[in-house]
Amino acid sequence: MNTQNFSAGQVAVVTGAARGIGLAIARRLAHQGVFVYLLDRDEQALNSSVSALQLEDLQVAGIALDLTVGESVNAAFAQIQQAHGRLDFLVNNAGVVRDKRFLNMTEQDWDLVVDTNLRAQFLCCKAALPLMLEKGFGRIVNMSSRAWLGGFGPAHYSAARGAGAA
Ligand SMILES: NC(=O)c1ccc[n+]([C@@H]2O[C@H](COP(=O)([O-])OP(=O)(O)OC[C@H]3O[C@@H](n4cnc5c(N)ncnc54)[C@H](O)[C@@H]3O)[C@@H](O)[C@H]2O)c1
Repeated sequence: MNTQNFSAGQVAVVTGAARGIGLAIARRLAHQGVFVYLLDRDEQALNSSVSALQLEDLQVAGIALDLTVGESVNAAFAQIQQAHGRLDFLVNNAGVVRDKRFLNMTEQDWDLVVDTNLRAQFLCCKAALPLMLEKGFGRIVNMSSRAWLGGFGPAHYSAARGAGAA
C-alpha cells in the first residue's frame, strides 16, 4: 500500500471488517490517518474490533448491518455523509463461502453466497459513488478471489467472484 496516497481527514468504508482481512485493511488505513468506518453484521465482533482500534488511538467507528439489505446500506452511507460530508475510499471486502457440490447446493445457499459476495458490492458502490463524484475523488476496491477461475466445488462463489472482478 503506497502511504503517499493517504492523508488525515480522508474517510474510508471497509465492509466485513469485524475480523480477518477486512479488519487488517481497516487498521492499516486508520494508521495512515484516515477515518475508517467498519461495516459488519456481526455486532459483537464489530464492537470488540472497533474498541481495540480505538485503544490504539485510531479514528474509527462501527456500523452493524446486513450488507445485502439496500435500505440498511443506504442508511449507513447517509450517516457517513452527514457526519463527514465526504467518502474517499470504499473497500468491498465482506464475503462468505459455502463449499458445496453443485447437486447439494440449495437455492438458499446460492442466494446467500451471491447476495453477500456480489449484491452487497453493487449496493455499496451505488451508495458510495454519489459521495465520491460530488468531491471529484474516490477509490473503490472490490475483493475477489482466484476462485473466479472456476474449479471443483463452490459454483456460486466462483460465479459471484468472477462477476465482482469483471
Ligand atoms: N481468506 C482467504 O483465504 C480469502 C481468499 C480469497 C478471497 N477472500 C475474500 O476476502 C474477503 C475477506 O475474507 P476473510 O477470510 O477475511 O473473511 P471472514 O469470513 O474472516 O470475514 C468476513 C466478514 O464479513 C462479514 N459479513 C459476511 N456477510 C455479511 C453481510 N451480509 N453483512 C455484513 N457483514 C457480513 C462477516 O461477519 C465477517 O466479519 C472475503 O470477501 C473473501 O471471499 C478470502
